[in-house]
Amino acid sequence: MEEMKQRIAQGIFGVGLSLLTIAGVGCRHYPPPVPLDQLNPQQASGHAIFKARCAQCHYERVDQPRNGPSLASVFHKPTLHSGAAATDERVTATILNGHGLMPAMGNQVDEGEIHDLLAYLHTV
Ligand code: HEC
Repeated sequence: MEEMKQRIAQGIFGVGLSLLTIAGVGCRHYPPPVPLDQLNPQQASGHAIFKARCAQCHYERVDQPRNGPSLASVFHKPTLHSGAAATDERVTATILNGHGLMPAMGNQVDEGEIHDLLAYLHTV
């Protein structure tokens, strides 16, 4: 009798564990953004450039759209909003050439600034 109770208890525990596992897979959790006061100088520079050039259209620290899609966890997610691969190359091309409603910004940011921007976007 005791043994049976134990088996039932183990069974319930097992089902609970499986449900937890399924829930964990269904809801993806990305790491939270690195706190602003912990950014290195290049990332901090990228943050300033983001504020000046991108923030009017994109949130990057909350997962909500503004005039464009959120860039929160942009390099943790498997793809960009468009479905393109979330790579430095693709994000650089988006900045230089624009994309859909996003204007081309190649004349507003130089190569060094793009490197800083990417370094910052890797922290969110
Ligand atoms: C005037 C508004 C505006 C500004 C400024 C802007 N964006 Fe965008 N951005 C958009 C819009 C709108 C989209 C969605 C485009 C679409 O899918 O049609 C977008 C899309 C993107 C995407 C996703 C591209 C894809 O393939 O899904 C990235 C990455 C991005 N922007 C980065 C940036 C960065 C970095 C900056 C600053 C240098 C910036 N944006 C400045 C409006 C803007």
